[in-house]
Amino acid sequence: MSVIRLPMLPGPEKIPWKAKVNGKEISKHVESNAILLDVLRDQVGTLGVKRGCDMGTCGCCSVLVNGNPKLSCLVLAQEVEDCEITTVEGLADGHHLHPIQEMFSEYGGSQCGFCTPGFLVVISSLLDENPSPNDSEIKNAIEGNLCRCTGYQQIVESVKAASELLVSGKNIDNTTDPKSNPNPGFEN
Ligand code: FES
Ligand code: FES
Repeated sequence: MSVIRLPMLPGPEKIPWKAKVNGKEISKHVESNAILLDVLRDQVGTLGVKRGCDMGTCGCCSVLVNGNPKLSCLVLAQEVEDCEITTVEGLADGHHLHPIQEMFSEYGGSQCGFCTPGFLVVISSLLDENPSPNDSEIKNAIEGNLCRCTGYQQIVESVKAASELLVSGKNIDNTTDPKSNPNPGFEN
């Protein structure tokens, strides 16, 4: 008896895709239905972008698109063609951590760390727009980000400390000898 073979459906076509990721021009060929999260992790190599729920509920995959937080698991790569994308890898300025990265480290804002990249990019955007957020503005900004470890209090404290640094204009120099300044930015 002969076997009837059904023709395979054609896969999605590959299309050229360009974007600026963490300040670097990136050109790739991506599937026309590729999700930004997959392109960033699998093709661009920014593995700081985490896949949590893959359905828009955890915030682990947050990135900035033209400065605005987006859930990369819900965005087609095509939709952000030619945009500026910032992942957690792009927050530091050379060897200088972003104040919110530094304060997460000081205040225990990160424990297992899986949610941390998403929080950091969302909070960096908040502080760009509003360097002195109050508690309710902080909580509103991070309401789409889930953390199973910290209980959130350390995260809120980290944001407040980063805000104080930004507003006071103190520089964080984490390239200096840590023995001479064990708590950078809190030397009084
Ligand atoms: S992986 Fe995108 S929101 Fe959870
Ligand atoms: S630090 Fe573990 S989930 Fe947030």
